[in-house]
Amino acid sequence: MLDAQCRRRGGARYRFATKAVSLGRPVDPQARAKKLTRALRAAKASGADHVVITGDLTEVGDRAEFEHFADVLEDAKMPEGSVSLVPGNHDAYTSGSAWRRALEGPLHRFAAASAAEPGKIVDRGPVAFLPIDTTCFQSILSSGGLFTPEAARAVTSRIDDPALRDKAIVVVMHHPPFDQHRNPIAQWIDGLRGCAHVLDILAKHPRVQILHGHMHRVVDRIVKLGKARIFGAPAIVDDGDAPRVRLYDVRDGALESAGLFAM
Ligand SMILES: [Fe+2]
Repeated sequence: MLDAQCRRRGGARYRFATKAVSLGRPVDPQARAKKLTRALRAAKASGADHVVITGDLTEVGDRAEFEHFADVLEDAKMPEGSVSLVPGNHDAYTSGSAWRRALEGPLHRFAAASAAEPGKIVDRGPVAFLPIDTTCFQSILSSGGLFTPEAARAVTSRIDDPALRDKAIVVVMHHPPFDQHRNPIAQWIDGLRGCAHVLDILAKHPRVQILHGHMHRVVDRIVKLGKARIFGAPAIVDDGDAPRVRLYDVRDGALESAGLFAM
């Protein structure tokens, strides 16, 4: 379905771009959809009451790819408000407005709990999620992100909101807020510009935690003694027929890792 739609729309240019950004992984939309379906089934079976998907939802942010992704979420019967989505660098390779148009279009049922303007709160009882869009429209040769001073101000003002005093505050974004690469050129191409803003927030507000994607592996970093933690999860595209989801409990106003789960 997706292959045919995209071939019609983008032809050879689309095929080149999707291969280029896949870095040796097979471009097989149906196989990837099956993995996502199984991962969502695992999340449901685990009893999770909220699902966070930390970006790179598509290959290049083509409209047909967002439609396919939305179809999988719909088929999984994920309740409205129980899924938070943030875009990744892959989702912004086609245009600077692809994410906004996806939320207004195929993903509209999931827009309320997903990244839009910085500072948006998704209140899920003991947890307040702050989904942030760190993407920028750029060449497929770059994969970095941007955390703006405006985003930092918006997040900081929310942390101080008395209504959120007793909740875990969890910022969700695609790019990790630390240097992933020792090589500064690799970091410049693939890293998060403005990550110092995030680290500053974490240093000043140890109750804030981060969920990120992009690195395709488990990350569990303590920024400051106490609760301030940065968590990353494996990418289901890398897993076999039983993709793993990362589970968390909420205890004493903070997330705690509860391991990986697959079925
Ligand atoms: Fe990424």
